[in-house]
Amino acid sequence: RRKLAVVGGGSTYTPELIDGFARLRDVLPLEELVLVDPDAGRLEVVGGLARRIFVRQGHPGRISWTGDLDAGIDGADAVLLQLRVGGQASRLQDETWPLECGCVGQETTGAGGLAKALRTVPVVLDIAERVRRRNPGAWIVDFTNPVGIVTRALLTHGHRAVGLCNVAIGLQRTIAGLLDVSPEQVELEHIGLNHLTWERAVRVAGEDVLPRLLAEHGDTLAGTLHLPRPLLDHLGVLPSSYLRYYYRHDAVVRELRTKPSRAAQVAALEQQLLGMYGDPALDEKPDLLSRRGGAYYSEAAVALTSSLLGGPSGTHVVNTPNSGTLPFLPDDAVIEAPATVDPTSAAPLPVRPLEPQYAGLVAHVTAYEHLALEAALLGRDGRNAGRAAGRKAVFAALLAHPLIGQSDPADRLADELIAHNREHLPWA
Ligand code: G6P
Ligand code: MN
Repeated sequence: RRKLAVVGGGSTYTPELIDGFARLRDVLPLEELVLVDPDAGRLEVVGGLARRIFVRQGHPGRISWTGDLDAGIDGADAVLLQLRVGGQASRLQDETWPLECGCVGQETTGAGGLAKALRTVPVVLDIAERVRRRNPGAWIVDFTNPVGIVTRALLTHGHRAVGLCNVAIGLQRTIAGLLDVSPEQVELEHIGLNHLTWERAVRVAGEDVLPRLLAEHGDTLAGTLHLPRPLLDHLGVLPSSYLRYYYRHDAVVRELRTKPSRAAQVAALEQQLLGMYGDPALDEKPDLLSRRGGAYYSEAAVALTSSLLGGPSGTHVVNTPNSGTLPFLPDDAVIEAPATVDPTSAAPLPVRPLEPQYAGLVAHVTAYEHLALEAALLGRDGRNAGRAAGRKAVFAALLAHPLIGQSDPADRLADELIAHNREHLPWA
């Protein structure tokens, strides 16, 4: 019997997940799926569509929904976390106030990402505690951003957790399309931290086709990754599109200042999507959903969850403890890399030594993530939680971030972060 719970199940992304569970039911046979969400109205709408997708695709599994977390996770073999504390409204803030200080405004990178970590880590840890109390053996699959920091929080608190992102699977599918081969034939040498990764090789039938891929499809890839073609040629690897916030930081800040925010676009899209989901005649994931960033996340989740729950063990790109894989990082740092996954663990495969141009940034951001987690844990685990200690921890994390690093902006950003997130920060 396989039961899954999805926390944040009222997300407009849920039909993507359901569509994957339905199409790939041989990979992960589900008997029961529970959507858990505090928003009853959204649950009703999203849950209704989820059921219709299962029925249309002839999936025999049961779908239910509840606002009661403990009831929802009861008996679940795996719990998927896809929640967003503060919703798109908080995201809009994360994308806005950093820009006024000349820093990137983004939901996972830079000061906005720190704000999201501070809001999210305590909520996720509380959920994980309840999962452990009810269901000590259950796996937690975390899609909740910032995935690297949230996964590290879960692991340092002894939870059975693995972090998941769709960047690698998305690139795999894009590249397969360009090469006209099936995705399973494309093996990526993917390495780094969540939203800070590079593909150092692209193997098809054992051969590294990355040089050819860059030569023949460099312009297309540069467009997809939002990076200049000459930079790709110089590096000879494929950075994730999130690396544009580093390699083109100032140019991106200028662009973001003139464009409508992603949060505003997504909020509008969500209204449209929820309107569609409410139509009882709709029984499939609408095309409009492909305008969100989460393409293929359902397929990644199905494959990973199957291996975690005793299906065939497999190699999946996940967020998991470094454990010596990158020898210059602490063992308990969380890296994003291909790992062998089975019901006991997600163990990274050995990695060729990382070149200095990547190792430097990875080490720097790992240090930031460590300090970000320290700040997010204030007021827990017996840590001092006064206002001064909180401000100091936030400033320390900002100062350690490679995109900030200077004391004047770190000071300003610390004040802005606290002012915009007071209700989520117990010490503020
Ligand atoms: C990708 C990233 C996710 C992120 C999403 C944002 O899927 O891997 O971590 O949450 O994009 O997409 P959105 O449509 O919300 O901008
Ligand atoms: Mn991601």
